[in-house]
Amino acid sequence: MTDTAFLFTAGNTDDAPRSDQPALLQLLAGDLRAISYTVDGVAALLGEQASAALGRDQVVPALLATERLTDSHDPAVRALAVVVRLWLLAVPQSVADVDSALPGIGTQGLVDLGLAFVDAGVVRVVVDLRPYGWDANADGTGGAELWVASDLAAHQQPGVLRHDHVLGIGRASTTLVQTTFRQHTKRALDLGTGCGIQTFHLLHHCEHVTATDISARALAFTRFNLLLNAAELELDPEDLESRVSLRLGSLLDPVAGEQFGLVVSNPPFVITPRRGGESSSDQFTYRDGGLPGDGIVAALVQSIAGVLEPGGTAQMLGNWEVTAGTDWKDRPKDWLKDSGLDVWFIQREQVDPEQYAETWLQDASQNRDREQYKDSYAAYLDDFASRNVQGVGFGMILLRRPLSGHQPVFSRFEEITYPIEQPIGPHLGAAVERADWVAANSVPEAHLVVAEDVTEERHQRPGAAHPGVILLRQGAGLRRTNLLSTELAGFASACDGQLSVRQIVAALVSLLGGGEDFDEDAFREGLYRDVTNLVLEGFLLPDPVQSGA
Ligand SMILES: C[S@@+](CC[C@H](N)C(=O)[O-])C[C@H]1O[C@@H](n2cnc3c(N)ncnc32)[C@H](O)[C@@H]1O
Repeated sequence: MTDTAFLFTAGNTDDAPRSDQPALLQLLAGDLRAISYTVDGVAALLGEQASAALGRDQVVPALLATERLTDSHDPAVRALAVVVRLWLLAVPQSVADVDSALPGIGTQGLVDLGLAFVDAGVVRVVVDLRPYGWDANADGTGGAELWVASDLAAHQQPGVLRHDHVLGIGRASTTLVQTTFRQHTKRALDLGTGCGIQTFHLLHHCEHVTATDISARALAFTRFNLLLNAAELELDPEDLESRVSLRLGSLLDPVAGEQFGLVVSNPPFVITPRRGGESSSDQFTYRDGGLPGDGIVAALVQSIAGVLEPGGTAQMLGNWEVTAGTDWKDRPKDWLKDSGLDVWFIQREQVDPEQYAETWLQDASQNRDREQYKDSYAAYLDDFASRNVQGVGFGMILLRRPLSGHQPVFSRFEEITYPIEQPIGPHLGAAVERADWVAANSVPEAHLVVAEDVTEERHQRPGAAHPGVILLRQGAGLRRTNLLSTELAGFASACDGQLSVRQIVAALVSLLGGGEDFDEDAFREGLYRDVTNLVLEGFLLPDPVQSGA
């Protein structure tokens, strides 16, 4: 039963796009579709380099590329150029040009929806509205072309960002999108929805999505985006609630007592120096959870089990502090000891306090005033020093509540800093399935095959009789490399599904054993352990023929 105190329905929050005028939203969608204001349409207009530069928040090449296009003889090119300059580059356009580019809604409609205002005969946007899409699956299902409203980004406006800034689709947003393992799920939770990016994707494979945020402005943007894209997302604008519930409140408060099969969150994990007497309106809501250090990530991972149904999974991004003289894993391990959950942390990078301060001061344009920048930078360094922090880790977190009566089957903390295949979500899902398989089956009795993407590398000194190094490499997924012992290399080369693990190990015992120092039991157990690890990491897989899969 939903606590109605948290329900967000109004859609008319001050200073955010209005979503209570369905006819205008339809006109806007129709106009944008007609001029091909899509990811591909914009890329074709700007050209490859200017598009790539815009992807790095560099607007100059796109400004130059579109300068003359607003006078093009081709009305379609002219209209798209006006809209790209208006929204993506935040360059004011004349009322006449906007009326002609978007004839259905016109300038007045944009003003009525809270997207723009008119000042001395020119139209200025107050929010960003950009195309966003993703490709369909191989069977043609699941793709989408949307338009997403958010606050103007740092590169589109002067000055420091407003503290209640509603974030657009950034690198962290798409990292979580690509990390999420997508399968049909009844109920999903998007905690800290922002402009709604995670929810758009969840709607493709979840029957119902609950999207929460502490910011009423963020929920107003999400509601606007859902209704603007209702047709593409297959939502009934008259009955949005049958697919999406928008809830206003902090962390798990709005969903207390409820359970979900999937929880995703790109939470406000940015570590921020606390100042005496500050209130929540002094904080950048989009990135700062208001707690000292990495407290918000700790609080979330320690409480998330309360809203996971048995078998349910949570996938999040986070930062964690690494104190001097400790391993990065120590802190997350400590957060989750005795949690009863399956746990997987992948640290993707670790930066020092200086790099961290620079990144986040630049993110909100707090680097534009020299004196303020110096003070804010110093505050970051003092804050980290006060907790003896020497580094900050960033990465992805996967937590799963075991099914009733089951014990956790994995607890992994690993660092993977090189490029991995994207989207990685399906590979994380496959790894979880392999961990379940190992827990439920006897590895010695299994028949294994080498995974399709795996190759073997042998390196040897010139003239040497045998290779000094034998590696297995994965071409896909997490792209791991595994250094093999001679016997493990021999084992892998015999994995064609014909013999069981026990039979191959027995053959290796007769081949390599026999010496005085040979400890057959230790050899066998060591090999079983290494083989199990190769299965968990996806180098070896149960033979689909033998396992009946
Ligand atoms: C980094 S943004 C993520 C937005 C979006 N989900 C994405 O993936 O890009 C974090 C969001 O969490 C919200 N937030 C901040 N503090 C929160 C809290 N205590 N409880 C719930 N949401 C919060 C912010 O308003 C913001 O929309």
